[in-house]
Amino acid sequence: MKSIFAFLTVAVFLVSCNPAPTSSKSSKGALTSNAAEKVYVAPGEYDDYYAFISGGFSGQLAVYGLPSGRLFRVIPVFSQDPEKGYGYNEETKPMLNTSHGFVPWGDSHHPDISQTDGVLDGRWVFINENNTPRIARISLETFETVEIIEIPNSAGNHSSSFVTENSEYVVAGTRFGIPIPQRDISISDYKGNFKASLSFIKIDPEDGEMSIAFQIRMPGFDYDLSHPGRGKSHGWFFFSMYNSEEAHSLLEVNASQNDKDFIAAVNWKKIEEYVKQGKGHKEKVKYAHNIWDDDTHTATSTMEKEVLVVNPEDVPGAIYFLPTPKSPHGCDVDPTGEYIIGNGKLAAAMTVHSFTKMLKAIEDKAFDGDKYGIPILKFEAVNYGTLVQPGLGPLHTEFDTRGNAYTTFFISSEVVKWNVKDLKVIDRHPVYYSVGHLMIPGGNSRKPFDKYMIAMNKITKDRYLPTGPEVCQSAQLFDISGDKMELLLDFPTIGEPHYAAGIPAEMLMDKSKKIYKLEDNKHPDAVKTEADSKVIRKGNEVHIYMTMIRSHFSPDNIEGVKVGDKVFFHITNLEQDYDVPHGFAMIGANTSEELIMPGRTATMVWEPKEVGVWPFYCTDFCSALHQEMQGYVRVSAKGANTPIKYTLDDEVPGEEEE
Ligand code: CUA
Repeated sequence: MKSIFAFLTVAVFLVSCNPAPTSSKSSKGALTSNAAEKVYVAPGEYDDYYAFISGGFSGQLAVYGLPSGRLFRVIPVFSQDPEKGYGYNEETKPMLNTSHGFVPWGDSHHPDISQTDGVLDGRWVFINENNTPRIARISLETFETVEIIEIPNSAGNHSSSFVTENSEYVVAGTRFGIPIPQRDISISDYKGNFKASLSFIKIDPEDGEMSIAFQIRMPGFDYDLSHPGRGKSHGWFFFSMYNSEEAHSLLEVNASQNDKDFIAAVNWKKIEEYVKQGKGHKEKVKYAHNIWDDDTHTATSTMEKEVLVVNPEDVPGAIYFLPTPKSPHGCDVDPTGEYIIGNGKLAAAMTVHSFTKMLKAIEDKAFDGDKYGIPILKFEAVNYGTLVQPGLGPLHTEFDTRGNAYTTFFISSEVVKWNVKDLKVIDRHPVYYSVGHLMIPGGNSRKPFDKYMIAMNKITKDRYLPTGPEVCQSAQLFDISGDKMELLLDFPTIGEPHYAAGIPAEMLMDKSKKIYKLEDNKHPDAVKTEADSKVIRKGNEVHIYMTMIRSHFSPDNIEGVKVGDKVFFHITNLEQDYDVPHGFAMIGANTSEELIMPGRTATMVWEPKEVGVWPFYCTDFCSALHQEMQGYVRVSAKGANTPIKYTLDDEVPGEEEE
């Protein structure tokens, strides 16, 4: 009673006193009075943007609406997901296959949406895996992971997965130098012996399928982030790096010695031509290439055996180093393609390089020596200018269409808006706290949709109700349409909101898939009518070809299964209605449930360990009689001679009643 009274008092205070931010709120967030209105999406209304926010160490990709910050869906990508059966069922297990075997977890980092003519085209979103280097492609029709390619000769795939302006390539890099090929050598022999790879993965323009076109064998620096050139700089790719010292231990000290590290400028068109002439050399490697087939509803994993490698010295004029203070992290290119921004983590100033000056410097051979044969361009010859003392610990920069850049500062916990041409700070806003990436929808393209920006924070301490030692990480939504950035909303995220990609809702919502057509289902174990449902024993395997439709399974009584059998439930959802998945859960199953979309088939393996009669049921509340959607499997002893029997309403499905 007391708490209700207190709530009412506060409510009255808020209503009676307009504008009425409470003192604690205003000191924390400095919200203007109409912020709530700006993020309020009324019940039944849609959000304006999709935001795809990486789950970081969760390995997944979450889909939110902006401006509401509402979570719509978590797309399983690199980690098993028992909610959907991803990585547990027979169809999706191959997606998580790698050269190291089955890997059930990943560290997802940078989503990037495919582009045509430098503008988002909304076909696919790519995302990299940092730990066991991989890139995934997710369909923006089904919101499902449809391909994962492993990157050989790499470790710590951080500078990934950014796409070129016609989705020609998506790139991968090596954050950790490694012996290539891997071999047994002393770690103290790092310098000169450990190498890195920058990989260019071709995207098929029709179906999006990825294939590694070539890898550039680079010195063993730590390639951190990257962005493509665009417009005038289309054809180039820029990679930031730290540890030009080639330290192998206590990097926080030993990799922070040099005043300047580099941004590597890679003329991929030039290397593409070189490769087209049949040049470069093939190396033996092993990497998994996993593809989802939407006809058979099944993934296959192929172990690839070789990769084409290009040495920089063999393609003169293709790669240059741009000196950049100091241990740069973010490496961002503005919408015009002219400005390349190096966010030096340890620098007191932001470095802005000019693409035009870079071309001139190359022409003039304005070199300052080389590193392992790669020319270092003179800093003064490529540098457009510096933004002096904008904040502490710059990490990442995104852009609007009005010539402004927005940079996150991890140490001073703020976003700073500045004009790229004038190098003048226009506005700054605190964030809560320790911001990593920020995202403006379309920020990595020629055409940002610059109404909103989200800042993704690593630490939230006092911002949310405490939940034990771990507090949620979060995003903060800003309105950036005016001169001043306006903080509108905090919303928690899944895992670590490492980076994000955003796109206007109208570009995706109409083509979002509603059902899988039963007639197009080419799964070899699909049964498309109840009459075809059946149970077949093959040695100690029992294959149950089952259907589900509101609100029963067929068959729903199964006998003749024995302890020691391997039971395959091949289940087809016969529904052809939008938003009617059914679930399937089997008592004691050591995998997960299945969540099966209309028209789709999925397979769960169950190995019964005890004699008895064991129930299964539908997990998704599908109808008023969802609770009745259930059945039994009778399990007999190992050597028993109970015959296989399967029925629905005591009849064998498909057999005429006598
Ligand atoms: Cu089918 Cu609940």
